Amino acid sequence: MRRPLVAGNWKMNKTVGEASELVNSMAPKLNELKGVEKVLCPPFISLPVISYLLKGGEVGLGAQNMYWEEKGAFTGEVSPAMVKELCQYVILGHSERRTYFGETDETVKKRVHAAQKIDLIPIVCVGETLQQYESKQTNEVVARQIKFGLADVDAAFAPRIVVAYEPVWAIGTGKASSGPSANEVVGKVIRGALSELFGNQTAQAIRVLYGGSVTASNAAEFFGQSEIDGALVGGASLKVDEFVAITKAASKS
Ligand code: PGA
Repeated sequence: MRRPLVAGNWKMNKTVGEASELVNSMAPKLNELKGVEKVLCPPFISLPVISYLLKGGEVGLGAQNMYWEEKGAFTGEVSPAMVKELCQYVILGHSERRTYFGETDETVKKRVHAAQKIDLIPIVCVGETLQQYESKQTNEVVARQIKFGLADVDAAFAPRIVVAYEPVWAIGTGKASSGPSANEVVGKVIRGALSELFGNQTAQAIRVLYGGSVTASNAAEFFGQSEIDGALVGGASLKVDEFVAITKAASKS
């Protein structure tokens, strides 16, 4: 049985003060929800204070990115050990990183290996662009992102990985995919590629989330699907009631 997981990707939103306020109103409600893993991913600068605020509770903490080198002259970057000191998770290869900051399957792979080395749980994002979707390249693109991004991962670490299927055309657009079509990509393409890499048993153990315009009103549609194990939530994760309702829907599924 795969344990459901709901992660909030705050992206570049909330100052440290605002982030603390949001966590203080959200965390007590999230702590009450059982049977679902909950993760908040605020900007780097808020991680120390939020890690302190979440102590003793049941909400996990994740970073939105990290560099793969251990330390050194890499101005502006954050290392795996820095993330590991405060977090249990790290989002890798988000489409905004790929689009605006030049990340590729190759650099995603380096980050995944760095996460493995330090035992951080990577939430690896994959998904097709609108143009790829319209030209029916979804399966090919997503399979390639999985096979290259997760290449050479150790069999022992693989089941800890979390994948997020996020069609780029659904992110921040209000146009979510549908439960059945996301389920089909996850079940056939993503688990298929995972199975080629790690074998069927591991492919069935890896959690795969859906992301892209998830809200309190459509969350249940995704969580009701057999292959979808939770959500990576952007915009709606900044609103207490929305995010709590989404997480609640996952705890029931
Ligand atoms: P969204 O973002 O929920 O605002 O569409 C999802 C994501 O980018 O992870």
